[in-house]
Amino acid sequence: MPLAARTRGRDRALGSRGTLLALCQAAGLPVASACSGRGACGRCLITVLSGAEALSRPGSRERRLLARLGADPDQRISCQCRLLDPSAEVDITTGYW
Ligand code: FES
Repeated sequence: MPLAARTRGRDRALGSRGTLLALCQAAGLPVASACSGRGACGRCLITVLSGAEALSRPGSRERRLLARLGADPDQRISCQCRLLDPSAEVDITTGYW
């Protein structure tokens, strides 16, 4: 399962093309958003449990927002983050799934 969302201890497969926010929403998983994925609100924060190296590196917008939020090193702004290596195993979660 290349990209998976961990919900209540179970992994749920996600697609591989698009932002993590879009992939979660396409799979029916709610992710908060107040800026329509423009990288401004920070509500779409997710935690990467494993496989972070297979994700796009944070751009300047995401880095600024992560710093403003005081995010942990394993957290990403899901609307600004994409899977680069579809063969990698990546697990993500949120605090509310
Ligand atoms: S949806 Fe607003 S920062 Fe991602």
